[in-house]
Amino acid sequence: IERTFSMIKPDATKRNLTGAITKVFEENGLRVVASKRVWMSQKQAESFYAVHKERPFFGELVEFMCSAPTIVQVLEGENAIAKNREVMGATNPAEAADGTIRKLFAESIGENSVHGSDAAETAAEEIAFWFGGNEIVG
Ligand code: GTP
Ligand code: MG
Repeated sequence: IERTFSMIKPDATKRNLTGAITKVFEENGLRVVASKRVWMSQKQAESFYAVHKERPFFGELVEFMCSAPTIVQVLEGENAIAKNREVMGATNPAEAADGTIRKLFAESIGENSVHGSDAAETAAEEIAFWFGGNEIVG
């Protein structure tokens, strides 16, 4: 059994899609074992996305992530990291497969409704960034 880190991004919380997105996770064998709503600061967004700081869209990404609340979650399941990436779909909703969260809900490549960790190491780092061990209840 594996855990991954997920965020429901501002474009989705603004449209009241927290439940609809969480339902897709649950229907695909992912269990929410931690969840909270945060309105992140610019500092938190810059730090969380530091790996992208040289990318041309970094400023836009940080501004977007601070524009409204986000839901941060830990998802648990068999192959949770890969399963979550599959269920999210491609970064650009125009390229996302039918039935994926980004195909269903995302508005653009930037405002793409969800984030999910891309590997075991980043999952561990991202979970620890947002949650204390006692906030995760399996
Ligand atoms: P995450 O799960 O959010 O990490 O998505 P990803 O792994 O599919 O994408 P990537 O790590 O390459 O980019 C991180 C995030 O930056 C994306 O989810 C988008 O929100 C944003 N992003 C990526 N490319 C662009 C772009 O060309 N323009 C803008 N505005 N944002 C982008
Ligand atoms: Mg990524």
